[in-house]
Amino acid sequence: MVTLEDVSRLQVVSGKGGTGKTTVAAALALALATAGKRTLLVEVEGRQGIAQLFETQALPYEERKIAVASGGGEVYALAIDPELALLDYLQMFYKLGGAGRALKKLGAIDFATTIAPGLRDVLLTGKACEAVRRKDKNGRFVYDYVVMDAPPTGRVTRFLNVNDEVAGLARIGPIHNQAQAVMRVLKSPETAVHLVTLLEEMPVQETADGIAELRAAKLPVGRVIVNMVRPEVLDEGGLELVRTVSRSSVARSLSAAGLGGARRGGHAERLVDPLLQQAEEYAERYALEHEQRAVLGELDLPLHELPLLAEGMDLAGLYQLANELRKQGIA
Ligand SMILES: Nc1ncnc2c1ncn2[C@@H]1O[C@H](COP(=O)(O)OP(=O)(O)O)[C@@H](O)[C@H]1O
Ligand SMILES: [Mg+2]
Repeated sequence: MVTLEDVSRLQVVSGKGGTGKTTVAAALALALATAGKRTLLVEVEGRQGIAQLFETQALPYEERKIAVASGGGEVYALAIDPELALLDYLQMFYKLGGAGRALKKLGAIDFATTIAPGLRDVLLTGKACEAVRRKDKNGRFVYDYVVMDAPPTGRVTRFLNVNDEVAGLARIGPIHNQAQAVMRVLKSPETAVHLVTLLEEMPVQETADGIAELRAAKLPVGRVIVNMVRPEVLDEGGLELVRTVSRSSVARSLSAAGLGGARRGGHAERLVDPLLQQAEEYAERYALEHEQRAVLGELDLPLHELPLLAEGMDLAGLYQLANELRKQGIA
């Protein structure tokens, strides 16, 4: 089934800090870059997380190709520098050129980008939307998809909505029109805001709150992506067995498996307690995770799960996560 959201050309990735926003945004950009498609991955917090993930040098304020996806699509990346974006913006409206450089010397740009954080967000979202709408000389979109590694859940609604405020402040003229054009993209099915979470109480709660905020602001909520999911090694039956099994029968089984004597002080007997303790810890985690899965289920949104890569993240791992997203039909 193809829904409107499947074709969203601007995919915004948010989530509680540390849940894997940058990683998931990068995997999503790779996943969307199927045969012949071109994706732009945009970083707005200037931490060079994308460059690190793709094992490449720091990104300049310039769109450059950083990966070829399996299947031949291309991923471009851009770390938006708010100062340079401001010069772009001034250039667009006022044809400033040299005057812009003079402004920079005067520190006016520092003022505008650090003192007025709202303006900073106007520039960042504006730049991303410009990339979404940009066409080549044949009238085709330059990027099939733009994926944004966005601010964390607590700030993302305000961040995306900032142009609404601007449109309200500047009631007519080019800035008003630009702000409205940005909001038209952000509030349309052309955009989807995804939230990354872990199967833990805090990030799940933040996800639920974030979704409520996004909805209240009429921003299009996309999907929930549960990251770093650990494999389930025991099912309900196995857990029940762990709860009821006797120490001595575990010791006998270990002994029968060739792990030594099952009597008091025997090798197998000494393995029982650590083993049962691990099982207990697992059972606890299982219960907590299932609780959080139930909370996520109530959100009534498509859920995706990405595995915890036990060896840590590297480029191969990133491709693996991208593949997983494709298999789950997100791209
Ligand atoms: N699926 C995963 N498996 C293993 N490690 C992961 C996974 N996703 C993210 N990580 C690691 O977790 C850390 C936080 O991820 P990152 O994408 O930087 O989070 P955020 O952008 O939300 O702060 C990084 O060290 C990253 O390599
Ligand atoms: Mg990040």
